[in-house]
Amino acid sequence: MADVTIRIRDDGPLLVDGDVKLLDGEGNEFVSDKPTIAICRCGASKIRPYCDGAHKECGFESAERAPA
Ligand code: FES
Repeated sequence: MADVTIRIRDDGPLLVDGDVKLLDGEGNEFVSDKPTIAICRCGASKIRPYCDGAHKECGFESAERAPA
């Protein structure tokens, strides 16, 4: 199993921990030296695909729960 964890933050980004590659639609890699990256889910970030905290001002609401 891959050693990657993706956590869904309520009303916020996806937090990705682990050794992953983040590629754009043409296969080009977004390079990050951070151990955890936050991927925007709200669409309001000015630094997409990363979260810049804009979800707090745009009213984004989402609280996904895994089925029990
Ligand atoms: S989820 Fe944070 S700016 Fe979009």
